[in-house]
Parts: sequence; C-alpha cells; structure tokens
Amino acid sequence: MESVWLFGYGSLIWRPDFEFLSSRVAWVDGWTRRFWQGSHDHRGIPEAPGRVVTLIPSENERCGGIAFEIAAPDVKDIFTALDYREKNGYDRCEAPLYFVPDGGDSKVEGIFYIANQNNFAFLGDAPIEQIAKQINQSHGPSGSNSEYLFNLALSLRDLDINDEHVFEIERELKHLNQTAQ
Ligand code: BEZ
Repeated sequence: MESVWLFGYGSLIWRPDFEFLSSRVAWVDGWTRRFWQGSHDHRGIPEAPGRVVTLIPSENERCGGIAFEIAAPDVKDIFTALDYREKNGYDRCEAPLYFVPDGGDSKVEGIFYIANQNNFAFLGDAPIEQIAKQINQSHGPSGSNSEYLFNLALSLRDLDINDEHVFEIERELKHLNQTAQ
C-alpha cells in the first residue's frame, strides 16, 4: 500500500492529532463548508448540541483545507482513531484533491469525512445570527464551540482561504461578545 492523503477542512486544519509525512493546502471541487452539523460529543452535549462543519454538495463551489499525507504503515490506526473521534454522524468519502500549483503533482485521490443530511445529528441551515448564537452558547468535552469557530477562521485566514460563511459567523460572534460586555 502507498501513502494515503486525508483532507482536513475543519478541526483537522489546526489540530491534526496524528503523524503525517507532509501536508499541503488543497481544494475539493463541488463542495462547500457549512456549520450545519450538530455536535453532541465535542463542542456541545446531546441536550444542547453545538455546531461544527460538514461539507455540502454545491456544484460551482470548492472548499479549501489541508491535505495530509499519511504513511502506509500508519493508515489503519489513524483511520480507526478518526472513525471513533468522528462517530457523531460522519462517514468517509473519497474524491480528488487539487493542490495549489507548485510544479509537482497537482491532483491526488484523497479521503475526507462528511456528515450528510440523513445523519441523526444533522441540523442544517439557519440564519447566521441563530448559528452564531448557538455557537456562542455551546460547550462540550472538547471545549467551547466559539474556540472551534475562532480557530478555524484564524487558520483559514493564515492559509489564504476565503470562506464567507465562516467569516460571517465569526463577525457575528465577535459582535455578540462585544454587546455582552
Ligand atoms: C476535518 O476535516 O477537520 C473534519 C471534519 C469533520 C470530521 C472529521 C474531520
């Protein structure tokens, strides 16, 4: 078996808790990142779920994140651990990952996790103010939901990835925090 590429578009971007050989900014075509998945076990609790990201099919869009190259001998253990960590509604999916051109390979087959609309924790769309309010109020075993959102927004900016959905929620959350003081 050769190395395997795992695409991270959420918490894996700033907290990849596994060993990898290399990492590169990458894109998946036909998907967009949305805070539409409920989190019962990380950034919320079953009685008061938080909101985390999933990918939603969207024909003319693409989603940016980081592709991690995992060494063949580590693949089984890393995916077993991630399957457990993401058991709250996520399934594995396979698609081409496109790299920012750098003179090397510009496309590889990759794996990523998505939570589709049929999973028990799916929340779906809501007005941005409502999403921000829910994130502002939610906490779970992995920490506050706001920390998740602020880390994601910061990391995307560092990587030069524009995501209006994430940045809009970030602005709304900052506004909520300012008006609460
Ligand atoms: C991620 O790409 O960071 C990710 C998102 C949802 C579930 C697992 C990983």
